[in-house]
Amino acid sequence: MAPPSPLRFLRQSLQQSTTVGAVWPSSRGLARAMVAPVFSSVHRDGPLRVLEIGAGVGPVTEELVARMLPGDRLDVVELNPEFCTALRERFGGATVPPNIHQVSILDFDPGIRYHHVVSGLPLANFPAEMVARIYARIFELLTPEGTFVMFEHVMGRELLNTFTTGETRERIERILAIEEAMQPLVVQRRTVPLNVPPARVLVRRHPGAAGEG
Ligand SMILES: C[S@@+](CC[C@H](N)C(=O)[O-])C[C@H]1O[C@@H](n2cnc3c(N)ncnc32)[C@H](O)[C@@H]1O
Repeated sequence: MAPPSPLRFLRQSLQQSTTVGAVWPSSRGLARAMVAPVFSSVHRDGPLRVLEIGAGVGPVTEELVARMLPGDRLDVVELNPEFCTALRERFGGATVPPNIHQVSILDFDPGIRYHHVVSGLPLANFPAEMVARIYARIFELLTPEGTFVMFEHVMGRELLNTFTTGETRERIERILAIEEAMQPLVVQRRTVPLNVPPARVLVRRHPGAAGEG
């Protein structure tokens, strides 16, 4: 597997700042924190189906691929064609090669549900209606017992909310309200300081999980 290319990431970030939403790929520490909930289950009673959304040049994909077993399935949904090419070059020869789908998560319809969804999407950059649709789509793609893992930049939304005005502030307030309503779904929070910028990993359960309100 060829090493990741941060410069390839930076170039796309400068060209597509809204959808890429970061200037540097996630650190190894953040990538490992993102995949830990996927593999933490002591009961692995069959092949895993995992969906990664917004893989960039693949720091999280690398950690997933390293832990997948034959028979497991990893689907990667990535909007950016340049990143899809990089991911195919990098992971095509893996023991469990990921299926790379160049499509928006909103248009992705695999006809199956996943045990785990891992997202690197820069939600704070998107319109609030789109954020609501993305969360809804993710929960449609997740089994009721599944886990949904994502990261956000520490204080990112709060700083935007404090230091912006007008439409941006209104948009961020609406995103914060959407996420506030999902607070009861959060089962784990972990801060990863060694990332540019520092990040927080959030693990949510499915709203329809058995025995949960
Ligand atoms: C912040 S980068 C994260 C990259 C990588 N996961 C990491 O941690 O370094 C966000 C990624 O989401 C992708 N993306 C943005 N909107 C998307 C969408 N609607 N569907 C799928 N991928 C999307 C971007 O192209 C970009 O690669």
